[in-house]
Amino acid sequence: MRAVPAAIDDVLHRTIDSGGHVCVLTGAGMSAESGIPTFRGTHDSLWSRFDPMRLATAGAWREDPALVWGWYRWRMHRVREAQPNAGHRALAQLARRVPLWLVTQNVDDLHERGGSTVDAHVHGSLFALRCFACGRAHEGPLDEYVDDAQRVEPMRCVACGDRIRPGVVWFGEALPDDAWNAATDAAIRCTLMLVVGTSGLVYPAAGLPALARRHGATLVEINPEPTALSAEVDHVLRATAARALPQLLG
Ligand code: OAD
Repeated sequence: MRAVPAAIDDVLHRTIDSGGHVCVLTGAGMSAESGIPTFRGTHDSLWSRFDPMRLATAGAWREDPALVWGWYRWRMHRVREAQPNAGHRALAQLARRVPLWLVTQNVDDLHERGGSTVDAHVHGSLFALRCFACGRAHEGPLDEYVDDAQRVEPMRCVACGDRIRPGVVWFGEALPDDAWNAATDAAIRCTLMLVVGTSGLVYPAAGLPALARRHGATLVEINPEPTALSAEVDHVLRATAARALPQLLG
């Protein structure tokens, strides 16, 4: 039996039939069923266990780069071990049926490994390593296991000798221009926005649904829990990403 409310089924089919565009905005809940912890909401979520001010700011990096790099190496390892879930794969299939822009706050690569093209990683990518000082892009090696409290001395830039940092957006940093422009463009131009697995608490990304709505899009939230965005969406599907998204495909 399908659990998708008829109204959501209708709006998706109207979008497909009328040549409309879908924008999907995803957050940490999208990858939860792949075993990647979310940031908020559960006792084992990242910001319940770790202090973001000690691990996710440029100041923290300057103060203790080995602590920060070790923690990110642990997160990279978890992502490398994880597999895309049925929700990731369903979005890749949906993109074959309707023009779709995929905007994610996630720094993992599970959408890509699930078969999607990501139009905007608005909070960057764990694996897009770059030099803290000169910005030069760098590659691994990142294979060996690191635990969540292990200090690891960062690699050094071959060009300037400064330390190599993860390619994520830290608190207090600007979002990458290209990704943010692609995200706002998608929000403005879409006719339907699916908001999947985000608490809607972190701006400016959390402002994308309101932007889409102001430009006439219908908003559908897919999340097992109510969120800060629930009151402003047109429809809610109270289910997990890996259950709801395959059902949307019918
Ligand atoms: P949060 O951890 O704030 O919220 C996760 C959301 O996922 C919650 O609303 C949960 O109810 C929902 N959720 C949990 N399991 C789910 C599942 N299986 N299917 C669908 N939804 C599920 O994550 P984000 O909203 O992504 O920023 O957090 C936003 C930003 O805050 C992150 O990108 C990160 C963080 O600080 C940076 O790293 C810059």
